[in-house]
Parts: sequence; structure tokens; C-alpha cells
Amino acid sequence: MQVVRTTEALRLALTGDGAPGSIGFVPTMGALHSGHLHLVEQSRSANDITVVSIFVNPSQFNNAQDLERYPRDEQRDVALLTDAGVDVVFVPNTAEMYPPGFSTWVTVEGLTNVLEGEFRPGHFRGVATVVTLLLQMVRPQRAYFGEKDWQQLLVVRRLARDLMLDVEIVGVPTVREPDGLAMSSRNERLDHSARRAAVVISQALAAAQAEYTAGERDHDALERKLHNTLAQEPALTTEYALITDANTLQAPASSNAPLRALIAAHIGGVRLIDNIPL
Ligand code: PAF
Repeated sequence: MQVVRTTEALRLALTGDGAPGSIGFVPTMGALHSGHLHLVEQSRSANDITVVSIFVNPSQFNNAQDLERYPRDEQRDVALLTDAGVDVVFVPNTAEMYPPGFSTWVTVEGLTNVLEGEFRPGHFRGVATVVTLLLQMVRPQRAYFGEKDWQQLLVVRRLARDLMLDVEIVGVPTVREPDGLAMSSRNERLDHSARRAAVVISQALAAAQAEYTAGERDHDALERKLHNTLAQEPALTTEYALITDANTLQAPASSNAPLRALIAAHIGGVRLIDNIPL
């Protein structure tokens, strides 16, 4: 496995021995967990070469403290990726991604006004810009994103389509801990009691899904189910808990719209998000 830190070294690694075959790409911010390794597996099974990037992207953090506290452990990440059979790891620094004078930003309109976009102003401008840059640098045939960040997946699909990037964006279902908590790098920051309490997020989603499966179609009733379940855990502060059209993230316009339940909440000083299809 090659670890490269510059765009030039990345290009050499990907073109060194002539045509590299198909490239699968997994962008990450490091602090890897089984969810990331599952994305790597998906990429390896469908492509000749798998590239993973590790870059904690400052422009997608709207809170300086959140950026500072984001877990980082490059040595451990590189060891995990070596064992996972990754071919190239791209670990750029901030100047490599945003050289002096950098002034071009990618903004996806509409989709980014709600949910994460509402509570984390500027977040998706940072995500859309760094993902566009990374896709230009790696030029993969396929890029893999977890469904845990459902809104991010929709935003990336939209930018790839609108900017006519020649890449397939592959969404991969969320990997969960045995008790249901969605895998996330932020889970590392939960202390023992916050970790125990955090399970209520996936329980609320499962409760709404069960009601839907049992025939409930009233969105208010399904949202009440989310809120009532979350309210059972006093240590948690809900930011949003909504049932939306899975594709537009707006209130469902018709009774046959595909639905998604989405939650963002704070627990023990950590902000967690999760979602589930209904
Ligand atoms: O999901 C993430 O880890 C990040 O938002 C991404 C896609 C790597 C962009 O920084």
C-alpha cells in the first residue's frame, strides 16, 4: 500500500504502471471504524484499485471546537487500511487542498438549506468543495459514501450530476453497533454513560419504522413517535427529528413519496446524526 501526500504523488501512484484499471474511491476524515472498512470492501469488490483519502476538512466545520476535537490517528488508520487491502492512501495537508489564494467554492442549492444545512451553516459548501476537489484529483470510476450521512449522499449525487463528473456515486447502508448505534468517528468521544444513552437515537428510528410497517401513514404521528422515544432519554437534546421525502428532504408531497426518518441530537457534548428508510 502506498501512502501519498501530494496531488503529484497521487497522480504518479495511479498512473505509474500504465493504465491502472478501474479506480474505486472512499473519501474519509480518518478515525476509521467498521463502517469505513465496509465502504472499502465494497470498493475492492467492484474495482481494480481502491484509493482512500484521509483529510479532516476544515471548511466543513462550522464550529472551531468541533474541528479541534475531531479524532485523529493516522498511524492506526494506515494500519487498518493496509490490512483491508487498500492500494493507495491519500493524506494531503490543508495547503495541498486549499493552496494560498484558493477562492472557488461549490454550492449545491436547495438540498442544503434544510437539516444539516440549517443547523451547520456552511457545512455543505465545505463538503461539496472538498469532494469535488478529491474527485478531480483521484478521477475514480466509482466513489463510495455511507448512508449514515444521507443528506451528504444526496448532495454529492447532485453535484456529480450537475457538474457532469464522470463518476458513479455509490451509497452504502449504515453499519451499526450490536445495540443499533450507527458507527461514527464521533462515537469515540462518547463517555460511558453518553454511549449507553446514545442508543435511543436508533431506537427512535426503529420505532418510527415499526409504526410505518404496521400501517401508520400520518407523518405527524410518525414524527411524534420519534420525539416521544427520544424524550425517554433525558441526557439527550434533539436538534431535529423529522420524516421527509427521502429524495427532496422536504415534507412529503404525496402519500407514495419514499420516506426517510432523520435525527440529529447532542449527547454528552457530542453531536450525532442517524437516519433510516421507512
Ligand atoms: O463523510 C465524511 O467523512 C466527509 O464529509 C467527507 C465526505 C470525507 C468530506 O470531507
